[in-house]
Amino acid sequence: MFLSLFTIAFSASTVFASTWPSPPEQTTIKLSPSEISASRASAPTLSPTSNVEGKAFDRIIQIWLENTDYDTAARNSDMKWLATQGILLTNFWALTHPSQPNYLAAVGGDTHGLDTDDFYAVPANISTIVDALDTKGISWGSYMEGMPFAGFQGDRYVNQENGRNNYVRKHNPLILYDSVTSNATRLSLVKNFTSLDQDIQRNFIPQWSFITPNMTSDGHDTGLPHAASWTRNFLTPLLENKSFNANHTLILLTFDENEKYPTQNHVFTLLLGSAIPSALYGTHDATFYTHYSVLSTVEANWGLPSLGRWDCGANIFQLVANLTSPRYVNWDVETKNLYFNSTYPGPLSKHRYQAEWPRPETKEACAAGYGVLEQVKRAWGEGEGGRKYTWPYPVDEASGNNVGGSATRAGQSVTVASTPSPTSIQFLVSRAVYDAIMSWR
Ligand SMILES: *[C@@H]1O[C@H](CO)[C@@H](O)[C@H](O)[C@H]1NC(C)=O
Ligand SMILES: *[C@@H]1O[C@H](CO)[C@@H](O)[C@H](O)[C@H]1NC(C)=O
Ligand SMILES: *[C@@H]1O[C@H](CO)[C@@H](O)[C@H](O)[C@H]1NC(C)=O
Ligand SMILES: *[C@@H]1O[C@H](CO)[C@@H](O)[C@H](O)[C@H]1NC(C)=O
Ligand SMILES: *[C@@H]1O[C@H](CO)[C@@H](O)[C@H](O)[C@H]1NC(C)=O
Ligand SMILES: *[C@@H]1O[C@H](CO)[C@@H](O)[C@H](O)[C@H]1NC(C)=O
Ligand SMILES: *[C@@H]1O[C@H](CO)[C@@H](O)[C@H](O)[C@H]1NC(C)=O
Ligand SMILES: *[C@@H]1O[C@H](CO)[C@@H](O)[C@H](O)[C@H]1NC(C)=O
Repeated sequence: MFLSLFTIAFSASTVFASTWPSPPEQTTIKLSPSEISASRASAPTLSPTSNVEGKAFDRIIQIWLENTDYDTAARNSDMKWLATQGILLTNFWALTHPSQPNYLAAVGGDTHGLDTDDFYAVPANISTIVDALDTKGISWGSYMEGMPFAGFQGDRYVNQENGRNNYVRKHNPLILYDSVTSNATRLSLVKNFTSLDQDIQRNFIPQWSFITPNMTSDGHDTGLPHAASWTRNFLTPLLENKSFNANHTLILLTFDENEKYPTQNHVFTLLLGSAIPSALYGTHDATFYTHYSVLSTVEANWGLPSLGRWDCGANIFQLVANLTSPRYVNWDVETKNLYFNSTYPGPLSKHRYQAEWPRPETKEACAAGYGVLEQVKRAWGEGEGGRKYTWPYPVDEASGNNVGGSATRAGQSVTVASTPSPTSIQFLVSRAVYDAIMSWR
């Protein structure tokens, strides 16, 4: 009995493993100390500003911490204090494991199957949120703690005195994209965290920014108590600083992923800043959101086109959805069977590599209602997405990834469920019914 079960399991895994071709070798960028010091002296740093009015905020500052279960953060006294300063999003989900695909997806709308922290560069025909921001001249920038200079492309930069982990490329979302690294202006906007102080002093904070604390500050090498206290110390003076928390500033504090892989990838997320009406301080919003919701929220806020990836169908923060006209109706998602703890096959997957880059969705209006970015349509042509990008969360029936959940909106529902065999996943609602619901929207 034992033996035959073992045989079945063994042969199944053999078949499974042989299904996936080996991914191509990736090259890593490593700079010598002399190259680094030369670039530190010469690399330009830019801080453009702009003032494009948004529906609910004129500035968004995202801060990402590491690897913490929702309940662990919710019990922490520094996090509890921060929650009194804004809105707690109680139903916010990370996308997968490990860290890197979450950062990657937060700016580009897809993990593309990435299932490692290895060195990858995303091809130039994949757009990111900065392409959308550029359509309206909305200034943007990143602040990466411990980065030796703006635009540094190496895989890491350790503390030069004690050799400890400091800056890591895998936590720097925009640098992972060739559409960013092939453009010198863009490289000079992906800055060292030390630029943040200077930009605050000069009142040069861009309208969209992403802050990654180093491996000590973000909790990766230290744990949540350290990350929470770092964040409280960092934010307390800045919440009072009008050059940082200017009028209509939204500060998003979240975690890349939870800690325990076999549990649901539910993360503690706060909305802070002057864009929050004071009547909503200390309240919570239980709407279902994912990291992709930040993209759809930014798009809806400023009237920007979608990337045609998972940002297309992602729920929009109620703070912005309440102000859209007609008012955008978010999806209720049944998350009981959803874990968001693994990734579907794709061109960045090491374990389930598929060479093809799925096409984006270019026909839909998408959640924000402004269609899809022109340059995405030019690069990929018009058509339906190669994944179910109009869904409120990432699902892949072909591989059975994130199936077993359902989404409801105004009495209608769409459902996916898997059967035990990985090759016979059933899509319970026909495309026709789904399309009818989407057109009813
Ligand atoms: C960037 O950050 C490092 C480490 O935090 C710091 O030592 C360095 O002075 C900064 N570089 C520049 C150019 O500001
Ligand atoms: C990370 O930054 C903090 C300051 O925010 C600093 O104290 C710490 O030494 C840095 N970590 C490393 C490994 O350099
Ligand atoms: C380079 O990046 C800047 C800033 O995002 C953008 O305005 C410009 O159009 C880009 N240039 C090219 C050739 O894509
Ligand atoms: C705001 O922060 C900057 C940078 O840390 C600082 O130089 C400035 O004095 C602060 N302003 C106020 C009013 O606290
Ligand atoms: C910020 O808002 C306050 C109150 O609405 C207003 O008095 C002030 O002029 C605004 N400041 C700026 C820089 O827009
Ligand atoms: C995801 O969670 C499920 C349920 O706990 C577990 O069976 C599965 O092994 C997890 N997947 C990964 C990749 O950890
Ligand atoms: C959105 O509108 C609903 C209903 O009017 C209200 O209860 C909720 O507080 C609003 N949420 C936000 C974040 O503005
Ligand atoms: C996008 O780039 C990838 C990698 O270079 C390439 O394989 C793919 O064919 C390109 N897609 C389109 C539609 O040009």
